[in-house]
Amino acid sequence: MNLSIFKTNFLNSIQTQVTWQAPSNIALIKYWGKHGEQLPKNPSLSFTLSNCISTTALDIIPISKGTDISFDFYFEGQSNPKFHSKIEVFFKRILPYCPWIANHHITINSQNSFPHSSGIASSASAMAALASCIVAAEELSDDYADQKASFLARLGSGSAARSINGPVTVWGATESVKESSDFFAVPLSESYYDPIFNTYCDTILLIDQGQKKISSTQGHQLMENHPFGVARFKQAFQNMEKLIKILEEGDLDAFISIIETEALTLHALMMTGSPNYILMHPNTMEVIQSVWNFRQETKLPVCFTLDAGANVHLLYPQKDAAQIEDWIDHKLKAFCQEGKIIKDKVGRGAKKV
Ligand code: DP6
Repeated sequence: MNLSIFKTNFLNSIQTQVTWQAPSNIALIKYWGKHGEQLPKNPSLSFTLSNCISTTALDIIPISKGTDISFDFYFEGQSNPKFHSKIEVFFKRILPYCPWIANHHITINSQNSFPHSSGIASSASAMAALASCIVAAEELSDDYADQKASFLARLGSGSAARSINGPVTVWGATESVKESSDFFAVPLSESYYDPIFNTYCDTILLIDQGQKKISSTQGHQLMENHPFGVARFKQAFQNMEKLIKILEEGDLDAFISIIETEALTLHALMMTGSPNYILMHPNTMEVIQSVWNFRQETKLPVCFTLDAGANVHLLYPQKDAAQIEDWIDHKLKAFCQEGKIIKDKVGRGAKKV
């Protein structure tokens, strides 16, 4: 692909303030393994969420031409050195595509709608909100703006590429989705999937709100010489092809089977790499067993997926929410740290505030 289409040159400097919101997303086909500059080893597909949101404001002012990046970052009102270095890496990566950044100072203020310590991955929403602000400052035309925002968000965090649009997005080239690309995510056209998926709820059970032992970025690296790497990437391509058909047919039993297989495969890869590690918590296993028992008893189409941590995402259509949420409140909250859950649902992606 000719990446120069993503380069924006300005004759004039920019002085502007922009604020955007972007949601988190939950992967159904998992991105786990990358190469080159933030390119995925396999295509992934996710539901974009609505309530787990980052809101980011940029104040951009011109400065005399430099070669370095000049910015201040405040998270929930405080400067934070840990986030600072992640954002510096992001700016360095996007500089070839947004060269104007080198002669501007950018003040960034960001906050999350969900508790920072909840163990919810915030990099997807945070990087998608930041990338949306950068593209908004460039005042690009609408269609192209989304594509560039996703392209830049990917350079901050791979999964962030999928948070620009919604409700269903695909990142990574796959024959099953014509316009798909390794460089940015694309929304799956709503005419290609059953409308039931636009009603999906995601209740997140906060099993362990602690810091992860191994970050996702380290996890991706461990896929490089993983004994099951080749088989996994092949499987992900096949699962993507199957899932696209399942979404179109609205086959909920097949949906459940593939989603849970992807979740358990992700954690199996963590357990079988070198060094190996386990991010599931005993209560993660309790919840998984409860989901299987409840589904067998009630035949309700609830399934679980896992992110790279101990938390469990429960996915189900809105029409069954009353019964499923009653079970969550009475049976599953006991497995959550301080009984905490987050109720979310599929949503439409980043927007201007
Ligand atoms: C398990 O996007 O957080 O959530 O590109 O290094 O920032 P980096 O990784 P990240 O990895 C997400 C991994 C995952 C699966 C997924 O979201 O597809």
